[in-house]
Amino acid sequence: MQVAIAGWGTALPKGRITNTDLEARVETSDEWIVERTGIRERRIAGEDESTATLATAAGRAALESAGITAADVDFMVIATATPEQPIPHTGAFVGDALGLTCGSFDMNVGCAGFIYGLVTGSSWLVTSGYRNVLVIGAETLTRVVDPRDRGTCILFGDGAAAVVLQPSGPDGGAVLGWDMGVDGSAHGLIGIPAGGSRLPATPDTIDDGLQFIKMQGQEVFRRAVRAVVSSVERALERAGITADDVDWFIPHQANLRIIEAAAQRLGIDPDRTIVNIEWFGNTSAASIPLAMAQAADAGRIRDGDVILMSGFGAGMAWGSAVVRWGRP
Ligand code: UT7
Repeated sequence: MQVAIAGWGTALPKGRITNTDLEARVETSDEWIVERTGIRERRIAGEDESTATLATAAGRAALESAGITAADVDFMVIATATPEQPIPHTGAFVGDALGLTCGSFDMNVGCAGFIYGLVTGSSWLVTSGYRNVLVIGAETLTRVVDPRDRGTCILFGDGAAAVVLQPSGPDGGAVLGWDMGVDGSAHGLIGIPAGGSRLPATPDTIDDGLQFIKMQGQEVFRRAVRAVVSSVERALERAGITADDVDWFIPHQANLRIIEAAAQRLGIDPDRTIVNIEWFGNTSAASIPLAMAQAADAGRIRDGDVILMSGFGAGMAWGSAVVRWGRP
């Protein structure tokens, strides 16, 4: 049995932060940000928005796109590093808003999260008899970014995107191969130090800004290109294809220079690479499905196209998946 992406949807807050806005807050410049990252603006959730509201809107759009209702959903996975709150999981809020009573859980694998959700959801369809699994990547990273830290506040943005996975016939879409891994020895490179069991939040941790994301950007950059290239090679091998067979490379949108370096090493032309980082920045677990859904809506991705997705980030975790586009 194959598994196809039967529907998709996105949700973006209306609020925007431009590079010019950031120039007024930290010592940076539009020129530096564009040259070093490729980003011009990112979205920011408003007061009445959160990870769950964005996930709900993206999930609803994906259900509509797949032509199903909440009652049809057998399971929901939410990939997020910025959950609605520590307890309960974001899926409880989203399930309530969508009218779901099926099982759900959150998956926190940073920027690789959507790939993990896609693989998990696909596996269930094959093994459990489920007919519809909703996989959502949703983030409100602007809520955990230190507005005074120019190394991170220029990068991250908010957004969500969702897919409905369904069993598929031989001519429909298919998940052809994947690869996932974590080098936990690098857990210190990206993270939020306080607020968990290791270092519970106290007035002191707040004073020290340990509720904010900390990142060793240069080292993450160096490892990211290597991680993407080797993970992609393993996923392609499992799918039984080479980079030449890939119609669209949809990388995690972390930094344009990382995307270009990885694509070049893989031998994938820029015109086969989907990039939206200019307008949305790094939306972590939402970044790959957001770029994919926008490309599909724009008519760039067509039935039968082979799509290669790859994400990496906190952990350091990585994940790649090869998908043949097409409804079931
Ligand atoms: O999705 C999770 C994975 N995360 C990533 O993939 C992030 C990967 N890393 C990056 O994207 C890049 O490392 C950054 C964009 C974060 C930083 O770019 P970089 O080219 O690695 O800069 P750098 O850290 O090597 O800094 C170069 C210079 C430094 O100044 P000096 O020491 O040479 O005088 C920094 O202080 O640029 C300075 N700098 C800035 N200048 C203006 C750092 N951030 C900024 C800034 N504006 N925002």
